[in-house]
Amino acid sequence: MAVLESNRLTAGPVMARFEAEFAAIHGCKFGLMCNSGTSAMHIALAALKEVYQWNDGDEVLVPALTFVATSNVVIYNGLKPVFVDVDPHYYTIDPSKIEKMITPRTRAIMPVHIGGQPCDMDPILAIAQRHNLRIIEDSAETMFVGDKGRSVGSFGDVGCFSTYAAHMITTGVGGLCTTNDPELIVVLKSLMNHGRDSIYLRIDDDQVEGRDIFEIADRRFSFVRLGHSFRATEMEAALGQAQLEERETLCAKRQEIVARLNKGLAPFQDELQLPQVRPGSEHSFMFYPLVIRNPAILRDDLIRFLENHSVETRYLLPLINQPVYQTLFGDLTLDYPVAARLNKTAFYIGCHPDMTDEDVEHVIECFGDYFRRSPTG
Ligand SMILES: Cc1ncc(COP(=O)(O)O)c(C=O)c1O
Repeated sequence: MAVLESNRLTAGPVMARFEAEFAAIHGCKFGLMCNSGTSAMHIALAALKEVYQWNDGDEVLVPALTFVATSNVVIYNGLKPVFVDVDPHYYTIDPSKIEKMITPRTRAIMPVHIGGQPCDMDPILAIAQRHNLRIIEDSAETMFVGDKGRSVGSFGDVGCFSTYAAHMITTGVGGLCTTNDPELIVVLKSLMNHGRDSIYLRIDDDQVEGRDIFEIADRRFSFVRLGHSFRATEMEAALGQAQLEERETLCAKRQEIVARLNKGLAPFQDELQLPQVRPGSEHSFMFYPLVIRNPAILRDDLIRFLENHSVETRYLLPLINQPVYQTLFGDLTLDYPVAARLNKTAFYIGCHPDMTDEDVEHVIECFGDYFRRSPTG
């Protein structure tokens, strides 16, 4: 309401505060809000491509299991995604498989913190340092947690977050970049805003005391690189700021739901691999991933049963078997056995803080009913 009453809908003081607080919580000096997590990743890659002078066709390492946007933005930036298989327990990029995918054209790694589980960052950082690679974290699904005491979003050159509806905090649509690099933040802001001269990126940038107003007026409409229209509004920032203030309660509720699901589903551990938290790491549980363990159980039969009983599911971020990726890259099943297996056996259910105790009990009961009625139950 304060934003509506202020009559200021474009990026203003509320967005500046949201960006600064979100960045600080994630161990970074600078934050930038834009209109989606995909936009955040798109400009992160574009900024690094410009600053480090990458060429079209240079390669970026991307996990073989992630939401399509991670890999799409690589392609849209004229770069080539090279996939790396994932860990079978935590579903994040497998550091032991990264180095064999590095070529003289590799420029960056995009670790994706899947569903709230940060990647195993120490070996990834060591590899990046050895091979002089940049790091862009896709942390769209993971906020407020870290690996070995360090926050997601602060490990690499740029961290990218999504505040889309289903995410840890939401602004309807939206995303953020975080960075500690003062040069990159200027390029990111410009890229988000049509490639404008950095002298004028928000409407009060002409109110800087002691600055020659004509110099600003002269450069205000100057475009220095090919940019995008990826701006978010002050109202979205207000939603984000309000949720940021409630984050501890929201996150605690998720952990409580996850603990209840863990307990309720524990009797089915021969059938299902329940989520685990990597030692030394935290988990913010944007969703609750499950993998079928017993080959006699058909995932899609279980999913049909759950959906018929109002328990919504999603497959666990299949990438290499997406129709568009099969068209672009052919059949990658044999090259990425873990991702290929998870594409057939993994899925997730919700653990949203608005779930009631009855909702959680209903989910647990549905699994019980299914396994009792199935031949292996
Ligand atoms: C891993 C991952 N990366 C990127 C995105 C893209 O975020 P957005 O939907 O805000 O563009 C998502 C989103 O949904 C995601 O799950």
